[in-house]
Amino acid sequence: MSLFRTKDIDAMLAVARDDGLKKVLGPIDLVMMGIGAIIGTGIFVLTGTGALTAGPALTVSFVIAALACGFAALCYAEFASAIPVSGSIYTYSYATLGEIVAWMIGWDLLLEYGLATSAVSVGWSGYFQSLMAGFGLKLPAALTAAPGSVPGVHTVLNLPACVIMLAITWVVSYGVRESTRVNNLMVAIKIGVVLLFIAVGVWHVQPANWQPFAPFGFAGIFNAAALVFFAFIGFDAVTSAAEEVRNPRRDLPIGIIGSLAVCTVLYVVVAAIMTGIVPFAKFAGVDHPVSLALQFAGQNWVAGFVDLGAILGMTTVILVMTYGQTRVIFAMSRDGLLPERLSSVHPVHATPYFATWTVGIVFAAIAALVPLSVLAELINIGTLAAFTLISVAVLVLRKTRPDLPRAFRCPGVPVVPLLSIGFCLFLMAHLQALTWIAFLVWLVVGLVIYFAYARRNAVLHNHGG
Ligand code: ALA
Repeated sequence: MSLFRTKDIDAMLAVARDDGLKKVLGPIDLVMMGIGAIIGTGIFVLTGTGALTAGPALTVSFVIAALACGFAALCYAEFASAIPVSGSIYTYSYATLGEIVAWMIGWDLLLEYGLATSAVSVGWSGYFQSLMAGFGLKLPAALTAAPGSVPGVHTVLNLPACVIMLAITWVVSYGVRESTRVNNLMVAIKIGVVLLFIAVGVWHVQPANWQPFAPFGFAGIFNAAALVFFAFIGFDAVTSAAEEVRNPRRDLPIGIIGSLAVCTVLYVVVAAIMTGIVPFAKFAGVDHPVSLALQFAGQNWVAGFVDLGAILGMTTVILVMTYGQTRVIFAMSRDGLLPERLSSVHPVHATPYFATWTVGIVFAAIAALVPLSVLAELINIGTLAAFTLISVAVLVLRKTRPDLPRAFRCPGVPVVPLLSIGFCLFLMAHLQALTWIAFLVWLVVGLVIYFAYARRNAVLHNHGG
């Protein structure tokens, strides 16, 4: 069945060795890149809603979401170490589950990374505007938000969100070495700010605020887990850098698992301290819950630093997500599933600049014009679907290519991949019906494009694969 034709793994490895992309990244770059993509809007903005949904048991929600990601991360790491080729899970499924599945996953990743960059740009814009307001600087109301996103205010576009998205696009198109340098600096500041919050906040915790611990029971805990899952999205972006890593078989697993582990510890501690300082009901309608906790504790100066760190933190999320997005498009285009122009590499900067600018302009427009506050769920469902697929793919690859060298092997196969599938489906089941409908519409559009364009233009098709 040509729908399920697969790419030859050994040929892919050969192409990746000689693709024009520079091999400059090491393990620390990758862990930093992971953290750069992970810590952002999820912890700085969504924890408020999470606390309202689960109460102080938000810490448990974070652990559940982390477990889902952790099991999936082990599957990712095996793939990343066996097939260190650009394109992440898209590429892995092309090698194992077949072209149509790979296409749908690639299509799904465009939704995940793309809307995530737009959504985080909008979160960035909110923090940026509130920081500027502290200095008495205000934009005209028309330029502060997407049309229709603020009741009673005539808004035309979210200018700061659009500008940050385009600025990041410029950085990514300029070159990967430069991007990781900018990223490493901002990630260091971001971690510093989170540690500052912990060090200052811990002295203001009132254990009485942790009672009752789970006011909305298991339902509240699970619904919050499905939401704050967003906070972990991003570690998978590490794998999309595979072709630019010096020693991918060793370093990719370190990057994936290391960044996830660091973030899990930080999130659980931050959630415990936040809900320990502020009675959770006070988070209603708050879009800066972390700094609110410090203000509540009378630490206004530290709160200002946290705002600044949040802005930098979200900047790195946009950076890494944009980067990941362009590499998936690069890989899909190289396979003929998207127009060839999208995999052209810049002669000087050695980056897929055309893909980068296409993505940057499209998602800058979305960031400017679409109110994205409710889209975190849509991003989550896309990502959870991708994680489910990668876990299936690990099981398939163990059967079809047991001989393939794997520097990292997912432990406890088949139990760990099955746990990953179970956790992801469980979290998906806790998302709203509307989210499911929107997701299914996106998948149907993807199928139409597959049959109308991608299938016929696939490199495999033209080589009789
Ligand atoms: N994990 C990323 C964030 O929290 C998407 O912003």
